[in-house]
Amino acid sequence: MAHIRKISWMLILLALLWGPSMGQDKAVDSNVSRAGEKSFQSIVNADGFTCVECHYFDEPDSINWNPSAMDLAGRVPIYNAEGIGVYFSDLKGAVLKKAHAGLSLSAEEQSELIAYLNHLKADPYLASTPTRWRMFLFLGMFLFLILLRVEKKRMDKLPKVARRILGIAAWGVIGVILVQDALGFNLSKNYAPVQPIKFSHLIHATNNKIECNYCHPGVLKGKNAGIPPVSLCMNCHRHQQEGTRTGKFEIRKVLQAAEDSVAIRWVRIHNLPDFAYFNHMQHVTIGGVECITCHGVVEDMHIVEQVEDLSMGWCIKCHDETKVDFSNNYYKTYYPALNDSLLTGRMDSIMVSDINGRECSICHY
Ligand code: HEC
Ligand code: HEC
Ligand code: HEC
Ligand code: HEC
Ligand code: HEC
Ligand code: HEC
Repeated sequence: MAHIRKISWMLILLALLWGPSMGQDKAVDSNVSRAGEKSFQSIVNADGFTCVECHYFDEPDSINWNPSAMDLAGRVPIYNAEGIGVYFSDLKGAVLKKAHAGLSLSAEEQSELIAYLNHLKADPYLASTPTRWRMFLFLGMFLFLILLRVEKKRMDKLPKVARRILGIAAWGVIGVILVQDALGFNLSKNYAPVQPIKFSHLIHATNNKIECNYCHPGVLKGKNAGIPPVSLCMNCHRHQQEGTRTGKFEIRKVLQAAEDSVAIRWVRIHNLPDFAYFNHMQHVTIGGVECITCHGVVEDMHIVEQVEDLSMGWCIKCHDETKVDFSNNYYKTYYPALNDSLLTGRMDSIMVSDINGRECSICHY
């Protein structure tokens, strides 16, 4: 008993000593980071732009080539080790030289800025993973409803009204999540997510004339187009280490991924449900359909956007309206009866739908 009392006293004493000092640390820390925030919003470069005007917070609709504030926050461990002085004095690279012209920060301002960026990184809003969260919440609500039922059967202590209100609230949460996710399904048209690297099709496919197949060789050979691995980017970026728009920042992510042998986590855009089957080779190589027909003018996009809804109606509409080229021996061999109809003039053209293009089983199995 005496031991316990002694230990409790010691703990209370410790708490009294520690608590305020911890609070003080935090207060000092947040003063420093607040000073950093002020600099971030007010110090201007030679052209009169503040840091935050380039190092933005809101993801823009059109591409912003500068690193975002969050991009910088992600590099805090490196700034802690190496400082950020070099980005303001020894300006390596044309883009950095132009962007940071006329900026000179004192050592104090630099460490305040790092504290501020570190504070951003700690922002729980960014660390959260909403989908998993929602899943747990969704399942949790069902568990909660079961518990309510058990309580009623076994204990029956809660007032009836309370049980009813809790039940309605749980169903409410389930309903909201369901409705939002159902709406999310229809959002896939015009879907243009922010990617981990500002990779631009316009720069690569149009300006540098790289063929689609060079990076998506799967289109000619099989079901999936595939997204190129880092090693393919490295064919060029081993040498090309600075971009005209992004400077070194974005290409360095490519070099880093190659060095660490990790895959870049591109966000998938076009995605059919598992129960629908689509094959690229069949459409591109055999059917002769161009990428542009289904994906829009990707070669003009800085950020890829899904332009079609990829619904069943969309697939079938095209199958109904697209002629099959029967001069191709492939069809002559596989559909001799249809070929005869063409030759005898009984049919003047044959649509994809005529060669099973409307059969449920070709797309669902
Ligand atoms: C230098 C390599 C490269 C070239 C050339 C290239 N792509 Fe891509 N493509 C990528 C990368 C990397 C991604 C993933 C990042 C993104 O979505 O922007 C991608 C994504 C896509 C997507 C979206 C994939 C998804 O997740 O749904 C489509 C569609 C696409 N490319 C079509 C094309 C077409 C059409 C061309 C030719 C005009 C082309 N690509 C040329 C590298 C390339
Ligand atoms: C066939 C060569 C080639 C391949 C393959 C290639 N790139 Fe590039 N990339 C270039 C060239 C050339 C530039 C410079 C364009 C410029 O600055 O105008 C560039 C620029 C960039 C830029 C910076 C754009 C700018 O203007 O700042 C990024 C980011 C980039 N590439 C990412 C990638 C990624 C990711 C891959 C792999 C999926 C890839 N590249 C594959 C040739 C290539
Ligand atoms: C005109 C736009 C612009 C302004 C203003 C600007 N920056 Fe930058 N900043 C850039 C660009 C672009 C890069 C990337 C250049 C590169 O990597 O070649 C960069 C790079 C950086 C980096 C290094 C990123 C890294 O880890 O490689 C830091 C840190 C940084 N900026 C902080 C600041 C601060 C702090 C201010 C304000 C005092 C500021 N910037 C003002 C455009 C700007
Ligand atoms: C007939 C329509 C159609 C044509 C033509 C087409 N695609 Fe696709 N593409 C799709 C559909 C549908 C998906 C989604 C597939 C899925 O989720 O299984 C897709 C997905 C993709 C993806 C995402 C990654 C993957 O492995 O599926 C890329 C990249 C892509 N297409 C590139 C291309 C390129 C490059 C071409 C031209 C050579 C092309 N596509 C031609 C309909 C088409
Ligand atoms: C822009 C026109 C177009 C669109 C859109 C399109 N297709 Fe097709 N599809 C074709 C053509 C042309 C062929 C004929 C190629 C062949 O003979 O294999 C074909 C053939 C097929 C075949 C093989 C038919 C057979 O009898 O062997 C399947 C399966 C298929 N498409 C699935 C789909 C699915 C799934 C979608 C939607 C996600 C889709 N297609 C969207 C044009 C299209
Ligand atoms: C040319 C390809 C194609 C053919 C033929 C086809 N489907 Fe589909 N179907 C799809 C695609 C793609 C989806 C997924 C659409 C989406 O993501 O909403 C789909 C979705 C569905 C769904 C899910 C509900 C929905 O609308 O999303 C059902 C059920 C279905 N198909 C039944 C059928 C039946 C029955 C047939 C035969 C009469 C058939 N399908 C023929 C491509 C096809």
